[in-house]
Amino acid sequence: MDRFNLYAKYYDLLYEDKDYKSEVSYIEQLIEPYGFKKPIEILELGCGTGNHAKLFSEKGYSVEGVDLSSQMIEIAKHKNKGDDNLSFYEGDINSYRSDKKFDVVTSLFHVVSYQNTNEKLEETFKTAAHHLKTGGLFIFDFWYGPGVLTDPPVVREKKLENDAILVNRKATPESDGVQNVIKVLFDIAIKDKSTDKEELIKETHVMRYLFIPELKYMLDKNGLDTQDYYHWMTFEKPTNSSWNVVVVAKKR
Ligand SMILES: C[S@@+](CC[C@H](N)C(=O)[O-])C[C@H]1O[C@@H](n2cnc3c(N)ncnc32)[C@H](O)[C@@H]1O
Repeated sequence: MDRFNLYAKYYDLLYEDKDYKSEVSYIEQLIEPYGFKKPIEILELGCGTGNHAKLFSEKGYSVEGVDLSSQMIEIAKHKNKGDDNLSFYEGDINSYRSDKKFDVVTSLFHVVSYQNTNEKLEETFKTAAHHLKTGGLFIFDFWYGPGVLTDPPVVREKKLENDAILVNRKATPESDGVQNVIKVLFDIAIKDKSTDKEELIKETHVMRYLFIPELKYMLDKNGLDTQDYYHWMTFEKPTNSSWNVVVVAKKR
């Protein structure tokens, strides 16, 4: 197995338990009250390997996906070959510009928390606003500050396995309460079962936890009015134990 295939297998395994199907239905329910006419066009910021996009396409949406990682984009393209409703581009959501305008911009699975400075957050919101038609929606989820501070992350080890690979992943969090970020250091060992060869990967993810007032302020500054925010996958207001919250904002 080459390095690329090893990664592809690792990402598939890592997200195996994630219920993308229910998430796409949930996003549909968030969009529904706004009465967009089908086919609805979505721009997905930080699309990863295209799992949400694929399911949206099956429901008749078209999706343009952007991601910083060339590997993720390669996997997304490979998985969705021949689907004319989908297109994927490598790019930075802080600066990405397409010629098109969309009904909805999504950014799912904590992508906004990866934008860990005020500057990056504002650039991402500018990108979303730039690509929305008037009345279009920006829907994103993020690490919710009150939840993160109430129940801070701890060291976690996870073992994952399928027919091809064995993965051992250790996540060590370091908290920076001045910048409102958690630096998560990942040590990942991926063993190819057919050769017994092990690949070691180190990744650092710097995640910003965010609060509603600062988000509302930054969204508003960029022409986006906050309509609603909920505990992720519900229609309930967040509480201090919510870790993941979704915001629906509308382009003025
Ligand atoms: C946790 S993954 C989520 C991927 C996908 N949305 C999903 O739900 O499977 C976070 C993704 O955000 C992407 N990302 C983070 N910062 C980015 C940026 N500035 N521009 C584009 N993509 C970014 C990463 O490359 C990664 O694919």
